[in-house]
Amino acid sequence: MDRSNADQLRKFVAPEFVFGTGARRLAGQYARNLGGRRVLVVTDEGVGRAGWSQQVVECLREADLTAFVFDRVSPNPKDHEVMAGVEVFKEERCNAVVAVGGGSPMDCAKGIGIISSNGGHISDFEGVDQVERACPPLIFVPTTAGTSADVSQFCIITNTVASYKMAIVSKAVVPDVSLVDPETTTTMDRDLTAAAGMDALTHATEALASNARSPITDLHALEAAHLVAQHLVGALARPQNMEHRAGMMQASLQAGLAFSNASLGAVHAMAHSLGGLKDLPHGLCNAILLPHVMEYNFDEAREAYIRLGQAMGIALEDLDREAQQSAILSNIRRLQESVGINRSLRDLGIDPGDVPALAAKALQDACIVTNPRRPVQSDLEAIYAKAA
Ligand SMILES: [Fe+2]
Repeated sequence: MDRSNADQLRKFVAPEFVFGTGARRLAGQYARNLGGRRVLVVTDEGVGRAGWSQQVVECLREADLTAFVFDRVSPNPKDHEVMAGVEVFKEERCNAVVAVGGGSPMDCAKGIGIISSNGGHISDFEGVDQVERACPPLIFVPTTAGTSADVSQFCIITNTVASYKMAIVSKAVVPDVSLVDPETTTTMDRDLTAAAGMDALTHATEALASNARSPITDLHALEAAHLVAQHLVGALARPQNMEHRAGMMQASLQAGLAFSNASLGAVHAMAHSLGGLKDLPHGLCNAILLPHVMEYNFDEAREAYIRLGQAMGIALEDLDREAQQSAILSNIRRLQESVGINRSLRDLGIDPGDVPALAAKALQDACIVTNPRRPVQSDLEAIYAKAA
């Protein structure tokens, strides 16, 4: 092979997935077919209260499997939560993992899968392709429309000793099957629906502008952006409307397929830094940062952002370069406001003294590498300051 072309090669990894109302009810059948007997169900208390984890446990029992529930998972899942889940997995002699929930239980389940097969501590696996042995069967039932942890090669865990989010990127954490059931998102409250939806839009935007993008990831990212523009506001206005909920679930899925393979950019690097140092909600941080990072990237990512804008239905044809930029950015800001995200980083408790440390951590995040413009410390400090 001509080595000069090696950086042009693109791989596309995706799990088997079943999309549609009722998909969650296949959890027992899939777990049994994948060889599961004693299954660890990783979830959190909120998803438990909504009733989704109990439904999945019942499906597992109907398939003659034994289920053990681990629900000690917080938002921005922590290293010690992963290790506590591994203890339950070992004590109960489990041989499969089913995650039911949003990004936090799913990422925690990935971490539990890694350690149960490879041993060690979760911090040993930080970085790209550091996981040697395959996880036990992983079956995911996402209950939010946005994080896409159910299709991605990413596992994000907070290192509580050094207060930052570790990115573990590996094909090993792509689940064996994802059961994507839009009905589970009807119990998301308004704030979570908005923040998760803006997370999906951020995934699509960063995948489109990534320097590891490909025609295949673009297809998914553009459709995801189109679906967010079509359905996010409607899902907020009519939370029980299944057309809007399914539209957002599909947006999340396709944005996930895009970013899992094209990676992300400075929005996520900076949001990971905020989540790690200050334990702030991921989707909300992304939503606040998105237009500011797009403005910083605009000249390098112009073509990608124009395609994004067109997919979202913004008329750009007769505009000059400057007008195109302002139409795209103002549309993103308008969407942010119409979904009720009108806060700044200062409202979330960030003060100017935090900015240097936040920028330094973001520069070390794996997602910064694929940002279309390579920032230095002062660039990220300026973006944080603008978003404050
Ligand atoms: Fe995200």
